[in-house]
Amino acid sequence: MRDADVAAKRILVRSDLNVPLADGRVADDTRIRASLPTLQLLLERGADRVTVCSHLGRPKGQDPAFSMQPVRDKLDELLHDDRLHVLENTRFNAGETKNDPAFARELAADNELFVEDAFGSVHRAHASTVGVAELLPSYAGLLLERELAELGKLLADVEHPFVLISGGAKVEDKLGVLQNLGGKADAVLVGGKMAEQLRRENPLRFDVVLPTDVVAASEFAEDAEAQVTPYDDLPDGWLGLDIGPETRETFARHIAEARTIFWNGPMGVFEWPRFAAGTKAVAEAVAHSDGYSVVGGADSARALTELGLEQQVSWLSTGGGAALELLEGKNLPGVSVIPEA
Ligand code: 3PG
Ligand code: MG
Repeated sequence: MRDADVAAKRILVRSDLNVPLADGRVADDTRIRASLPTLQLLLERGADRVTVCSHLGRPKGQDPAFSMQPVRDKLDELLHDDRLHVLENTRFNAGETKNDPAFARELAADNELFVEDAFGSVHRAHASTVGVAELLPSYAGLLLERELAELGKLLADVEHPFVLISGGAKVEDKLGVLQNLGGKADAVLVGGKMAEQLRRENPLRFDVVLPTDVVAASEFAEDAEAQVTPYDDLPDGWLGLDIGPETRETFARHIAEARTIFWNGPMGVFEWPRFAAGTKAVAEAVAHSDGYSVVGGADSARALTELGLEQQVSWLSTGGGAALELLEGKNLPGVSVIPEA
């Protein structure tokens, strides 16, 4: 978009303003702030009108609980300009997720240029990410460009040791990244639910570092009785809800030696203080590294932010699924539709 002639033009921007809400307000404005540079540049360069569109959550049709109003209010607080407008939730229209040409035409109507800046949504072939880009001259926004550059470094030659850290519950989503990048990593550290699955059966062609001890819980509850046990010595009916202290030390040692790091996914149920120490230890080790560190996924981002460490990593991606799909080597439809990207 730096090369686009935007002066006096009416511009449609697709941002990823899909943010968490609480009590009708924006609970975390990270994605809104990350979207500002593109909007600011367009306004500075004399755009006649900048219309921003985004989805919010996964509503089934028109649902006031998913209205863009809280996002609109937050954006207005951060960047007030009479030329700036925010459309209602794109997913209120059934044509959005179907990439329906009629809805794409509706979005394109009365706009002269399209800027794709919603990195977190470029793995979706929807009307607002792909359909509209086929109808208007389309450019990559600054956030999209930066995300591709930073995450792209992990796909090229990296400085070694390269350490991959993976956790969280969505195991299937993350195996692809390990398959694509794990071969060139010097250590692959795995915690959370994923570790249990790989312990039973490892479909990867390389070894992974699995937890040797866990924080076991008597039941799946925030106030469950908890104790540290070897991974294979859980009392009957107990569940491993975090990595144990020995594993934390092993993981931290690998991370301290790394020159390149990618971390996605918590080590346990970190929303519950009793089972948060493993994720916290990884967050701190990654933040304290002076190597090149990239963190993706909402949970890892939240853990870093809660510890006030979000500025201490080289790149904190605004994409969850999109970052994983990029690192899996998949094609991102919202990127490939833009000629120069
Ligand atoms: C996200 O938060 O992962 C993106 O905004 C995409 O949302 P979706 O998974 O509902 O398509
Ligand atoms: Mg997602």
